Amino acid sequence: MDDLKGKICVITGGGGVIGASLAEGLGNAGIITVILDINEDAAKKVAKQVKEVTGSASYGMKANVLDKKSLQDVHDKIIKEIGDVDFLINGAGGNSPQATTKLEELTENDIDNLEDGFFGLEMEGFQKVFDLNFTGTLLPSMVFTREMVKRQRGVVLNISSMNAYKPLTKIPAYSAAKSSINNFTEWLSVHFAKVGVRVNAIAPGFFLTNQNRFLLLDEKSGDLTLRGEKIINNTPMGIFGEPGDITGTVLYLLSDMSHFVTGICIPVDGGYSAFGGV
Ligand SMILES: NC(=O)c1ccc[n+]([C@@H]2O[C@H](COP(=O)([O-])OP(=O)(O)OC[C@H]3O[C@@H](n4cnc5c(N)ncnc54)[C@H](O)[C@@H]3O)[C@@H](O)[C@H]2O)c1
Repeated sequence: MDDLKGKICVITGGGGVIGASLAEGLGNAGIITVILDINEDAAKKVAKQVKEVTGSASYGMKANVLDKKSLQDVHDKIIKEIGDVDFLINGAGGNSPQATTKLEELTENDIDNLEDGFFGLEMEGFQKVFDLNFTGTLLPSMVFTREMVKRQRGVVLNISSMNAYKPLTKIPAYSAAKSSINNFTEWLSVHFAKVGVRVNAIAPGFFLTNQNRFLLLDEKSGDLTLRGEKIINNTPMGIFGEPGDITGTVLYLLSDMSHFVTGICIPVDGGYSAFGGV
């Protein structure tokens, strides 16, 4: 994948767990990374670490994926101070407790307690999660691909999720938004197919990260929680992914090795999406 060396890749949400791990993997492949995050300190910290660990240039900047002007400003700054953007990874995303139901499903015992299910969802929380995951991919794509289209060269990589194929219980906004990412990936790939810009996605399975460790492992014993057990039982490889497991698939989709590949979403999931549960 020598074609990747010296290319410039913008990673939104790059201050987060997956973004940081990806940035390191890309840096090891000689790619110059620009870490964008609403949390400027996190973006700068990741950039510093990537530079130290990989020796490749990395820059951390503040940007809000829900604010077109903020994206436009940072885009212009990158072009002026660093160079043309070759790749965009739309990594900002996530769920929120405000968009999560208490119950997994309703039974006849819950009829007097409907607020714990679908009916208790707050529209504000629902909208926030939907916007972060969908609009937060749409807007950076709009801002960063204009120059790619003019140069007739570039790659967009979106981050989907297992929720895109079959929704997980409790998180309908996140599930619907990630499903929309797969649809948008296909739409944009067709729109750009004749102007040299490829658009693909990856769908990570279950990764043990600092944010979900408490949900998946018992703090004291380190044993799997019930939810953690369910996930492992439905992951044919029988393990959680490590953030670094995503790197190879991403490098392939960014590289010219996949020059005839556009509009797809590759699961990186230890077999989770292939398993019917029996
Ligand atoms: N962790 C997992 O197991 C997993 C699984 C499947 C998919 N994903 C997806 O991977 C992506 C990264 O997830 P992660 O686990 O690294 O999450 P994370 O919470 O560690 O990182 C997300 C980053 O996005 C930033 N962000 C939030 N709102 C923003 C905004 N408006 N503008 C710019 N940046 C903003 C946050 O500050 C944070 O640094 C997300 O799209 C997530 O949905 C994660």
